[in-house]
Amino acid sequence: MTARASLPTVDAPFSGGWTSRLAERTRGRDGTLSAILALANATDVINFSGGFPDHALFPTDVLQQLVEKLLHDDAAVALQYAPSEGIASVRDAIADHVEHGQGLRPDETDLMVTSGGIDAITLIAKSMLDAGDAVAVEEPSYVGAVTGFTSFDATVLGVPIDDGGLDVDAFAALLAAGAAPKLIYTIPDHQNPSGWTMAPDRRRALVELCRRYGVLIVEDVAYRELGFAGSPDNSLWSLGPDVVVQIGTFSKTFFPGVRLGWAAGPAEIVAQLVIAKQNSDQCAGALGQRLLEEFLRGGYYADHVEHARRLYRARAAVMTDALAASFGGTPASWSRPDGGFFSWLRLPGVDTTALATTARDRDVAFVPGAGFFSARPDTEHARLSFSRVSEPDIAEGIARLAAAVGYA
Ligand SMILES: Cc1ncc(COP(=O)(O)O)c(C=O)c1O
Repeated sequence: MTARASLPTVDAPFSGGWTSRLAERTRGRDGTLSAILALANATDVINFSGGFPDHALFPTDVLQQLVEKLLHDDAAVALQYAPSEGIASVRDAIADHVEHGQGLRPDETDLMVTSGGIDAITLIAKSMLDAGDAVAVEEPSYVGAVTGFTSFDATVLGVPIDDGGLDVDAFAALLAAGAAPKLIYTIPDHQNPSGWTMAPDRRRALVELCRRYGVLIVEDVAYRELGFAGSPDNSLWSLGPDVVVQIGTFSKTFFPGVRLGWAAGPAEIVAQLVIAKQNSDQCAGALGQRLLEEFLRGGYYADHVEHARRLYRARAAVMTDALAASFGGTPASWSRPDGGFFSWLRLPGVDTTALATTARDRDVAFVPGAGFFSARPDTEHARLSFSRVSEPDIAEGIARLAAAVGYA
């Protein structure tokens, strides 16, 4: 009989604390998004934080009928694992949806179902980025995407954005000066956090520029369907399907509890994203996929989104009026969103991170702007989400915010 292997002897049990064992790439990350989500759930304040849809819009009656039907007729698919690229019939319904909204239909090999927008961003980062690769992002941009890229050790290059969207000339100058980002991430419609939309000529110019330099465009269309006036401009993907991966989500238009979205782009990239998904969550939940398909195919989606648009348009108008009433005549300026969830308030000389605490004392919450900037520090902006605040509360909340700044 062989002797039992003895455990290595140590002088003292491990007591170093587990943070010292965290991977280098996660150590010291401040969890900005978790902080936003924590604040976003606060109910004791007038809450302008969090890019959440209004829960009053959730189509519970129809969902109840559809869930019952699915459990009765299709449990073998709806409660089962799904293919990593998504259930074929669901991909077909999403392809129809994309074609209807953008005038171009992704081929079967160009489209996959994802577990929401963040999942698509993570799959792209995981599939495309080596440590030290550069990624260009709008400055400011959606925190979740930026941390998605940096958590795969990317270096971030900030590109300015204004009320005409991404400054394509500034990006062209960066490229001409030798910057070589592998991809550029942009939110062309009703951007998070600014609310700004990219002008049509800039869309074409960006596609041409990226084609020339071999830079992949990652187009996030999270708020595209929530425009307040007319039809949206051409999507970047429809202008350049050879150079764009589009990320869509149903979180803002359907409901985020379902965690569903899509990625559409060149087949060789989508194929790699599907492989990357196999060792993340393997597949988007089948029940949600089938529910979405039934909601789209049953003709409920268009009315639902139209209703949402009307609600958010009215709230955006109240927000803009309230900002004018409370901040007019002060050094402040703000964006006038034509869709989406956000207004972007600039308060020159005010540290909005400190203001968030003062505002909390007056029962108002918002997201300080600093976290949305990756390269250039900026502490004088505030992101105000009007998506789930009632009209009277918007007016009251903005008045309280002005008082917290000392403008009232
Ligand atoms: C621009 C943008 N993209 C993606 C997401 C995340 O989408 P999802 O909830 O589907 O992961 C958000 C959510 O705030 C967003 O604002």
